[in-house]
Amino acid sequence: MNNKFTFVTKIFLIKYFCVLFTICFVEGSFAQTNQIESKIDSLLSRMTLEEKIGQLNQFAGTNKQRDELVEEGKVGSFLGVKGAAEINRIQKIAMEKSRLKIPIIFGNDVIHGYKTTFPIPLAASCSWDTELVKSSAGIAAFEAASEGTNWTFAPMVDIARDPRWGRIAEGAGEDPYLGSAMAIALVEGFQGKNLSDKNTIAACAKHFVAYGAAEGGRDYNTVDISDRTLKEIYLPPFKAAVDAGVVTIMSAFNSLNGVPASANHYTITDILKNSWRFNGFVVSDYNSIGELINHGIAGNKAQAALKAITAGVDMDMVGDTIEGYVYEPNLSKLIDEKKLSIKVIDASVRRILRVKYRLGLFEHPYVDTSYFRNNSLASSYKNSVALRLAEESIVLLKNKKNILPLKKDIKSIAVIGPLADDHYDPLGPWACMPVPENVVTVLQGIKNLVPASTKIKYIKGCEIIGGDKKEFDNAVKVAGESDVVILILGESAGMSGEAASRTNIDLPGFQEKLAETIFKVGKPVVVVLMNGRPLTINWIAENIPSVLECWFLGDQTGNAIANVLFGNYNPSGKLSVSFPRSTGQIPVYYNHLNTGRPFQENNKYTSKYLDSPNTPFFPFGYGLSYTTFKYDSIKISENKIKIGDTTSVSVKVMNTGKAAGEEIVQLYLRDLVASVSRPVKELKGFKRIYLNPGEEKTVTFSITPAMLKFYNIDMKKVIKPGKFQIMIGGNSNAALSDYFYVEE
Ligand code: GLC
Repeated sequence: MNNKFTFVTKIFLIKYFCVLFTICFVEGSFAQTNQIESKIDSLLSRMTLEEKIGQLNQFAGTNKQRDELVEEGKVGSFLGVKGAAEINRIQKIAMEKSRLKIPIIFGNDVIHGYKTTFPIPLAASCSWDTELVKSSAGIAAFEAASEGTNWTFAPMVDIARDPRWGRIAEGAGEDPYLGSAMAIALVEGFQGKNLSDKNTIAACAKHFVAYGAAEGGRDYNTVDISDRTLKEIYLPPFKAAVDAGVVTIMSAFNSLNGVPASANHYTITDILKNSWRFNGFVVSDYNSIGELINHGIAGNKAQAALKAITAGVDMDMVGDTIEGYVYEPNLSKLIDEKKLSIKVIDASVRRILRVKYRLGLFEHPYVDTSYFRNNSLASSYKNSVALRLAEESIVLLKNKKNILPLKKDIKSIAVIGPLADDHYDPLGPWACMPVPENVVTVLQGIKNLVPASTKIKYIKGCEIIGGDKKEFDNAVKVAGESDVVILILGESAGMSGEAASRTNIDLPGFQEKLAETIFKVGKPVVVVLMNGRPLTINWIAENIPSVLECWFLGDQTGNAIANVLFGNYNPSGKLSVSFPRSTGQIPVYYNHLNTGRPFQENNKYTSKYLDSPNTPFFPFGYGLSYTTFKYDSIKISENKIKIGDTTSVSVKVMNTGKAAGEEIVQLYLRDLVASVSRPVKELKGFKRIYLNPGEEKTVTFSITPAMLKFYNIDMKKVIKPGKFQIMIGGNSNAALSDYFYVEE
């Protein structure tokens, strides 16, 4: 009796204290929220109109005149200011000379690292390793905060299905589910558990919204998509970021269905602020408010200011274009002319002050250099995260005849190509405070790994773009004298990122010609690609026996690529974006509709091209390994469930090869019949497993009601009874499949 009584008492006490803790925690954060709101009330009541509008202004860079504006309380934020000394200098003016001592928030583009440069986001998304991506963001936040940046304009969560668009490099590819997972990881990494900690920074999900759907893949171009596509494809990663607690959102340059994103009340206020209850603030993209005049929805800056502020854009990024400011001085004029209510201004100021309070800027406005000196992150830790993320971002596209992994005692290697000994381009677009001399080049990485006895011959062979074929003969000679050729080809960092769209996504310059020339020498050739977008690499993919997609991997480029080349790391990366066979095939993506005439090989009158297969060259979710994995024994726990019930599916995965390795097991679902056409498959889950040769594991996924919801014909999110197909495998062509039914 005693034992039972003690047991019951223990359980009761545990539950009691859990409930108590939860109440205290919720009450605590509730009390803290209330405290902040009342502080804002008090501050707002003392602010002049000029000081209120000042909070809505963000300037790019500092100067004497802006020092005065800071002193007059007319600046809420700066972008592009870096370094503790300058940031503390500006902050001192705000905290000691301005009337109300409201701290400035300093934003910068910490996209894939601050000083330590990690793989570009498109590369990192191919790791599918959200925990590691989160760690990289935590390091970036620490380094940025240590030098005064307390706000990053990241994560970029734009879904991109068009590789002509250079900014595909900055996001997580074509899929909303993977894009949402990466958005959450980055927001949590940047903002940490407590936004007011000194080593965390405010995140900013951008560019709201559908910027990646620019027509023709041409940056800043028009976007015209259905509400369904907006809600099923482009909004989900932003919703995930908001649910993860992102405190700022950046409105985009593009027009969306005729209404510019930076004046779009429907997306910013109706969806983001009202429906999703986002309580942070919205900053415009770089003068995207001023550009409402170019969009033709404002005749002058005053009208642009009115449109943007009433749509819900709280802060004007760099309104101070050469023609002059936007929010300042136009908003005060609009108030005087009674065209705008002070309530609208107050609501925006409140949001900005709320983020500054939550960041702890009022308590610790200055960079606490002693804190960072006493709590520095070890370089070994930072480099280990950078190396591991780089290794996991590499996708093995092809490995015919198993040339890879190379033997470490190989006698001689030819390292050829314009990106082989390059300290700059591997940093990729949007490197923040990079240290090029810290970049391990591919050539150096190979030298670091092989024994001194291995003869390594390096020749550039040609330029990335332009140039000539003068070095081809020498390259052929070097290749002929070596046991294997490593050919490092791709794009320059500036050929992707912002304002870097391409109509032709072949390898630029003479690089493919160089590959063809070297191939004829007859030695084993491995191509290592470094690029910021999928490329049309048909000749290489068809002829070169081994191809690694390495994107731009940052500081640890050479060590990561060498570790994969020589088998120290067995590649596990999976493409987060499809590789088209030609530009003419774009857009090509995996989660497409079936159409009324789905492709049939022997039926002309089905949806197809005369000159190309429908399928991409490499599909979403694809990536090889140095081993092989077998999937079988798919089993659904309950294959008839009621609406709202959960079931689960398990599958056995075996390593049937000779090398240990990681596999990213992917779960896809298909709703076979619904009130609207549904995609032939949608990613709904993924798990990373490690298997030794011969080892088998059972991987189980829950199938939850949330996975089965879709926007019905009335655009209401519902679950409907019907038949669903499950597909599980190592890429989006997952063959292992089974069915289950949802009943009323
Ligand atoms: C740029 C980009 C945006 C960036 C901002 C600040 O134009 O569109 O992504 O964060 O300006 O640099």
